[in-house]
Amino acid sequence: MKKEKRNKKLKILIGIFSVILIICCVLLFIEIFSKASPIKGKYSKEVITVLDNNNLLDKANKLDYSPTLEIMIKDDYFNKKHFDDYYLVDYHEYEGFSKHVSQLLEKEYEPEKINYLMSNQTKELINKIITLDKFEIDYLKIKDFDLDKLARYKEFNSYVLSFEEIVKAVNHDIDIKKDEVPYDSANFYINIKPAIDPHSDITLVNKAYVLDKSFVPNDLVNFESKSISKRVVEPLKEMFEYAKEAGYHLCTISSYRSYNTQTSLFYGYIKRDGRAHAERYSAKPGHSEHQLGLATDLCTTNGKRITVDSPVYPWLENNAHKFGFIIRFPKGKTGITGYNFEPWHVRYIGKEHATKVKELDITYDEYYEIFLKER
Ligand code: DAL
Ligand code: ZN
Repeated sequence: MKKEKRNKKLKILIGIFSVILIICCVLLFIEIFSKASPIKGKYSKEVITVLDNNNLLDKANKLDYSPTLEIMIKDDYFNKKHFDDYYLVDYHEYEGFSKHVSQLLEKEYEPEKINYLMSNQTKELINKIITLDKFEIDYLKIKDFDLDKLARYKEFNSYVLSFEEIVKAVNHDIDIKKDEVPYDSANFYINIKPAIDPHSDITLVNKAYVLDKSFVPNDLVNFESKSISKRVVEPLKEMFEYAKEAGYHLCTISSYRSYNTQTSLFYGYIKRDGRAHAERYSAKPGHSEHQLGLATDLCTTNGKRITVDSPVYPWLENNAHKFGFIIRFPKGKTGITGYNFEPWHVRYIGKEHATKVKELDITYDEYYEIFLKER
């Protein structure tokens, strides 16, 4: 009986020992197999050696296979400090891929940016980027962004304009101070098109954009005994109040003008001064902003139109944009606007655009073409 019991105990012990032995064997096998053949044997011997020499074999084993890591090692561009980045850079099959990855990582571009470049940009552009200081890769997503103009974009300091707007401005050479454009009557009243969306605040009316004979603003109200668009009244009142606080008097002398009124004025001036002369200060019927109800000629203390010598003029020049107005026919821009300098004529376009026109120091004709036409 005793012997039988002992035998049973022995059998149980042998059983337990066998199970432990089997488990140990399996664990040992797994360990040996994983070291000898990382990631199901996908990496080449050469790669495994490099990983082993850099004590990265265990780490690589725990991660999925990375074709980028493999090519970086094979092409001799492997750098231990970028080991984690290689896993995040998507593999692309082209000659020079590993060199690009190495150079871009050296310039500290994030893998996500490198992936964008590899998927969306040409090899030539990447070659160029590598020669430049690190910049925001997302700039490349901006319409018409030109890498050759990067320095100019960066130099164009502005608190008012977005980077996209700066790109547009520089692409139109607005950052390069240009010589005055000489006035040539042959450049005007050609390719005449109907004014776009004439009831909006930003409609451009000039010698190229014309209003229909029948166009009348639908929100005319009375202000200082003259008709004007309702949209302009509050901004004008506010501007007049601020001017008053600064010690200046402002008033309006001519605001909305109908097509017929403009016709009488224009032909009257031609009779008086001759066509060539008159066209430089008076708009042909349909081509006057006064017909929009958004322009007004300002007067001051003497009841006469503001001149460049009026004490209020510098104040107006520096502050009109804050209320949504621009000096529509500025000094030295006759070649662009088609009109002599008119210190008295202001046009309402709203604060945002007026501020940008002022900041860019360009005419509304240019601003509209560059920033608003394609909206
Ligand atoms: N004096 C401006 C140009 C007009 O006639 O509308
Ligand atoms: Zn005017």
